Amino acid sequence: ATLAPAAVQSAAPAPAVPAAPKEATVLFGSQTGNSHKLGKKLAGKLQDQGFEVALSSMIDFKPNTLKKVQNLFVIVSTHGEGDPPDNAISFHEFLLGKRAPRLEETSFSVLALGDTSYEFFCKTGKDFDQRLEELGAKRIAPRVDCDVDYEDAANQWLASVLSAVGQVPTGAQAVSGGAVQATPTATESAYSRSNPFPASVLENLNLNGRGSDRETRHLELSLEGSGLQYEAGDSLGVYPANHPKLVDDVIEAFGWNAEAPVPLPKNAGERPLKEALASVYEITVLTKPLLEQVAALAASSGLQELLAAGKEQQLKEYVKGRDLLDLAQDYNLKAIPAAKFVTLLRKIPARLYSISSSPKAYPDEVHLTIRKVEYESQGRVRYGVCSTYVSERVEPGQELPVFVQDNPNFKLPADGDVPVIMIGPGTGVAPFRAFLGEREETGATGKTWLFYGDQHFASDFLYQVEWQRWLKDGVLTRMDVAFSRDTDRKVYVQHRMLEHSKDLYEWLMQGAAVYVCGDEKKMAHDVQAALLTILKQEGGLGEEEAAAYLTQMQQDKRYQRDVY
Ligand code: 2AM
Repeated sequence: ATLAPAAVQSAAPAPAVPAAPKEATVLFGSQTGNSHKLGKKLAGKLQDQGFEVALSSMIDFKPNTLKKVQNLFVIVSTHGEGDPPDNAISFHEFLLGKRAPRLEETSFSVLALGDTSYEFFCKTGKDFDQRLEELGAKRIAPRVDCDVDYEDAANQWLASVLSAVGQVPTGAQAVSGGAVQATPTATESAYSRSNPFPASVLENLNLNGRGSDRETRHLELSLEGSGLQYEAGDSLGVYPANHPKLVDDVIEAFGWNAEAPVPLPKNAGERPLKEALASVYEITVLTKPLLEQVAALAASSGLQELLAAGKEQQLKEYVKGRDLLDLAQDYNLKAIPAAKFVTLLRKIPARLYSISSSPKAYPDEVHLTIRKVEYESQGRVRYGVCSTYVSERVEPGQELPVFVQDNPNFKLPADGDVPVIMIGPGTGVAPFRAFLGEREETGATGKTWLFYGDQHFASDFLYQVEWQRWLKDGVLTRMDVAFSRDTDRKVYVQHRMLEHSKDLYEWLMQGAAVYVCGDEKKMAHDVQAALLTILKQEGGLGEEEAAAYLTQMQQDKRYQRDVY
């Protein structure tokens, strides 16, 4: 029998009970870590206002505790065709499904991150916002939808949320709670996305051999003096410059004067048009809001027709793969003043690259592995903005504006004994060079297995010498490669996984963590199918059991993806 606690008798009067602190739950879902960072910021501010805050990734949140939440703040990004990020999938499914509880007692607000160049702009955030209302929750601050350059809009949302919860109970203590520490722990660098560090380029090499179809740059940058810190698995944001030829062509097509001064964003003075288009404004992407504003300025009947109701599909097809040069040429936009036009443009967004160095192996340096993107679209060759910049116009000695983007969703197991399986064809191999460097430097003893693939063994085997050294030293236990264009029949990484399904299953049963990096739509999808096949075939699981096993692995952080 359990003992009843002894009644405590006290002669002294009971102390005044402080008012129960107000509680808030901040849930974030993100692929790249932006939502996580904003979640931490909101949690910190709510604590300052006397809230007891639980900050949690959606994947770690227990849905059966949702009913008890008084104040719910959702920060979530959207991917591809309106999809939730990996760590938001299960919560999204739960909330939108039949089992979601009524939430009459809950107050909420949603911050949605997205990109106006996509058709389903901020869809996941919109889903949450609408569904919470349907479930009876009370919206205390309107949803804010952020474009790629999210910081100003996000700060406005934070301010409106904080003012909405402004009535703070007296005597409440700030207590941190939940799955994640709300207060930032690491000493923060003065450099960030909005204030990037000018990193010196130490090295810029082409990793591909003669005869390759591809060009992949190995870039070494110095972080000395920046205070910037990163971990294996994190990404680096890089601000590129537009191609000078495209800048010239755009200026000509609009009939502008290259030297005329134009305003910079946020009243930051003026720059000659040519410089502003080269390094400040985005000219390679068309968005619906941009076209609407241009149509209002230019009185172009063709453009108005494209934007008419019912033409959504045509608009979607038109903007795909087209840029400002197409727009000027297709709609003969000659009469718009440049100084007015640039105010409609977005800033060039930073590109995120998975870091390919371990900070322990290369202190004060960061390495990137960037493949030059070049393709034909709408009858013209198009160049990836950042990859072409890095390939053609970045030399040692020059500086690149960069910042570190934490990726808590792509981290080695804390325990160095845990076996690790890494699948990274092409530039997807980048973070695994960081992982193995990390395991070498820390003397971790867990087994490691790398699946790598590319087109040709002779010219496309990125970092071949390093893998061989790690294999020899035992840092890398096993490596299987798939060169897709050396044989008649294409072989890909997932084929190698299936060939070795017995061993792979054995590793999984030994608790191995699985990492996938690289192309999302095709490769990562096919790799996931291969994992499911292996679970069914070797583990005797049914379709649903195998899927549940993988979801559980994801929840346990044993299946992590960094895909794009
Ligand atoms: P391919 O270009 O010959 O089709 C890195 O880009 C490697 O990934 C290349 O060998 C490429 O092959 C391969 N790849 C392309 N599609 C893939 C898929 N669906 N699954 C796995 N690998 C793929």
